[in-house]
Amino acid sequence: MHENRKAVLDVLQGKVPERRPVWLMRQAGRYLPEYRAIRTEAESFLKMCLTPDLATEITLQPIRRFDMDAAILFADILLVPMALGQGLEFREGEGPVLDKIETAQDLDQLIYDAERVAPVFETVRRVKQALPDRTTLIGFCGAPWTVASYMIDGNSKQDFALARSWVEHAPEKLDRLMAILVEASESYLSAQIDAGAECLQIFDSWAGLLTGGDFNRFVIEPTRALVTRMKAKYPQVPIIGFPREASSAGYSAYVRQTGIDGMSIDFNVDVNLAKQDWQSVKPLQGNLDPALLVEGGAPMRHALAHIMQTFGPKHIMNLGHGVVPQTPPEHVAEMVKFIREYAS
Ligand code: CP3
Repeated sequence: MHENRKAVLDVLQGKVPERRPVWLMRQAGRYLPEYRAIRTEAESFLKMCLTPDLATEITLQPIRRFDMDAAILFADILLVPMALGQGLEFREGEGPVLDKIETAQDLDQLIYDAERVAPVFETVRRVKQALPDRTTLIGFCGAPWTVASYMIDGNSKQDFALARSWVEHAPEKLDRLMAILVEASESYLSAQIDAGAECLQIFDSWAGLLTGGDFNRFVIEPTRALVTRMKAKYPQVPIIGFPREASSAGYSAYVRQTGIDGMSIDFNVDVNLAKQDWQSVKPLQGNLDPALLVEGGAPMRHALAHIMQTFGPKHIMNLGHGVVPQTPPEHVAEMVKFIREYAS
């Protein structure tokens, strides 16, 4: 009997895994014909997230096809604003649209109601039942800064100009929104763990918009607060943080100061710096360029070998951002095969 056969969890505990773990951000999504088939039938993307039958099936699709080492719950980071009572819609070809948060009174009206997202936890329970023993079930949420950015701007069309103006002109109001999101995210993640999630990832997709003191105040501090709360209740559940497109100084501070167990890195980072300055502190995940997964073949294999050589076996293979819709599924199969066959 193996003590722990889950390669993702082994790496996050600093152990050499039985095999190099791999999973992909957005591994369930439009590049898969079986996902598109459900998408065509379903009423909306939100409905898919909130219907356990559909969300369970979609979460399992890439596991069946590719033998990934982790399944990530099919849901969205914007379900937390929805649970807080903010209007949310995903428009065809347009992405998410939220009612804008503007005033202090708007903040007062944000009250987390777990009932609004209860189907998500049912999905976690069902996926957990269905997963093979060695597959880790990852739950997730957006980081307070990234989620706040969508809540303030309502969409991502203006590069979060309004959110950035709060940083500049209303930082105390933003602190309050961060505190609301830390608390709501704690409840949301706790319910995912109670339902069976074995690992968590915090997506800070827009961390790269901030630097210096602002990065510290709105990326590091709220993440540290959330991680501290989760660790107090669930010390054994590892947390991966992803401060996408942070500066080198930003990643360096993030890996040391937030309390996360592993850090996901984007594809613009200097891998030698990542190895020396960040992997020496915590295990890393990533950082294949999603465009190389679209391209496939020798360029993809070359990049994979370079990543595996640089980081060694205590590393979780993943992309530097999500799988894009034009990715051929065969390239994902080729990627997994190459990793499985790679000799040390
Ligand atoms: O497979 C998985 O990764 C799990 C499910 C998942 C989704 N979104 C499903 C989804 C996860 C972990 C997310 C996270 C998420 N959602 C992030 C952080 C990661 C990142 O991509 O930076 C963000 C910023 C969001 C918000 C969001 N959701 C946007 C901006 C969009 C529109 C862009 C797009 O790709 O269409 C979504 C929609 C969304 N979330 C889709 C999926 C599969 C596409 C929906 C569809 O049209 O079918």
